[in-house]
Amino acid sequence: MVDTNISVIGLGKLGLPIVVVLAKSGFNVTGIDTNKKLVEDLNTDCFCSMEPDLLSYLRKYGSSISFTNQPSNVRNTTVSFIIVPTPSTENNMFDPSLVINAVREIGKELRDVDHKHLFVIVSTVMPGDTIDKIIPTIEDALGKKHGEGFDLCYNPEFIAIGRVIYDLENPDKVLIGSENINAANRLKDIYTDVFATNSTKPKFISVNNTEAEIIKIHINSMVTAKITYANMITDLCETFPGVDIDRVTEGVGSDYRIGNKYLTGGLGFGGPCFPRDNLATQALYIRKGLNNYKIPLDIHFFNRDIPTKVSIITKKISQDRFGGRKDLTIGVIGASYKNDTICLDESQAVSIIGYLSKIFYKVMVYQKGLSVEMLLDCMRSNLAMPHVHNVSVESDMSKIVEYSNIIILPVLDPQTIFQEFNEVISRYKIGDKYFIDCWRQMPDKPNVIKFGLYHPIRDVKLQHWAD
Ligand SMILES: NC(=O)c1ccc[n+]([C@@H]2O[C@H](COP(=O)([O-])OP(=O)(O)OC[C@H]3O[C@@H](n4cnc5c(N)ncnc54)[C@H](O)[C@@H]3O)[C@@H](O)[C@H]2O)c1
Repeated sequence: MVDTNISVIGLGKLGLPIVVVLAKSGFNVTGIDTNKKLVEDLNTDCFCSMEPDLLSYLRKYGSSISFTNQPSNVRNTTVSFIIVPTPSTENNMFDPSLVINAVREIGKELRDVDHKHLFVIVSTVMPGDTIDKIIPTIEDALGKKHGEGFDLCYNPEFIAIGRVIYDLENPDKVLIGSENINAANRLKDIYTDVFATNSTKPKFISVNNTEAEIIKIHINSMVTAKITYANMITDLCETFPGVDIDRVTEGVGSDYRIGNKYLTGGLGFGGPCFPRDNLATQALYIRKGLNNYKIPLDIHFFNRDIPTKVSIITKKISQDRFGGRKDLTIGVIGASYKNDTICLDESQAVSIIGYLSKIFYKVMVYQKGLSVEMLLDCMRSNLAMPHVHNVSVESDMSKIVEYSNIIILPVLDPQTIFQEFNEVISRYKIGDKYFIDCWRQMPDKPNVIKFGLYHPIRDVKLQHWAD
């Protein structure tokens, strides 16, 4: 069977990039979403996104794509990728309700269709949910047995916001969970077309559904462990005079079993996946009665406390260099959880902004494409800060540099922001301004406080850096 017509259910941060990548690979794609406004925007070219290549791919491959709110359109396709939200519950599990609703609806639509539909679950789900909840729902709705009347694969993606299309087109691996080889082979055939022009082909990892579910959350949880290790080593290095955290992590990462990726001391992890996948991993162990296994929880608490280190350093500088003045303005260059996106999910920069807004007269934030309402909404929901009046968002970086006394650089990546930043600071007299360089990206300057190369909580040697 050759699957040329594919539907994608859920056109969000991950779903829409999957639509365009499939269309580019020669498939006819039907994008289905319950959000009427989103579908209208996509159909009238009013859709906006900062995700690299997304808009250009939509324009270029749009003739192979249709967008609709109608689930009945799955009838014209033989494969459905399901990428709807699975929000975290109070006990940190992924709630599969929207996936279950979506597959139920598709199943009903396909009752009288005689092809063997392939369901591809991309949404992140708890280990066991595909077998225990999703497959039985489809069997009921469709009136056919798994393997006989339909195929199913669990196929999570490993992408980072701000490079979703690149990551989809150039993965190191494709993880396919399935209970039968035919289902996995159908999905592999689709990916063979997606990677047809790649010089290095990704590795296919074919396992059963539950194994794939366990692998997905443990990959992310183990990356959070690595990031946490880098930050733990940072704290240790700060206790030794003359020890450079970057030389230490480079040495540790040079071991071929470890590697340097994600092994840089600085701020912690954030975003829509790492924090909740790590907590879901912990929740899974508890659910299975393995109550003594607390590593993910330790990682969570360690990570959660990192932004407080920045606010402690900022307070120290305000005392030591500004005589504890109450009217200081703090500038923060970047609020998103990483570069190349305005996604604020679990952003450590937002936590820093929240803590600083409680201490200082004013906090000015630089982030292109971000509104102050978006930032305040995030602070209300993530930090339980309902009334914040002293935070502003600026799209002109020079305003921040001009008016701030202390400037914080929480986002890792010299290319995006730093070129502009270096150009802007060259226009100002920085003698009375201080910079907290969370990732040690700035060239050496007297007023730069390099996170990890200085003793923030213990004996603060500000004098050393400022003179
Ligand atoms: N965003 C990421 O970086 C990322 C990475 C890996 C995995 N995931 C997983 O992918 C899933 C989706 O994440 P996202 O970030 O793309 O979500 P999102 O919130 O950006 O988008 C989800 C879309 O699904 C739509 N939707 C909800 N119910 C629907 C239904 N019944 N039928 C059709 N459309 C429906 C929503 O309107 C929305 O447009 C989640 O399980 C997430 O954990 C996301």
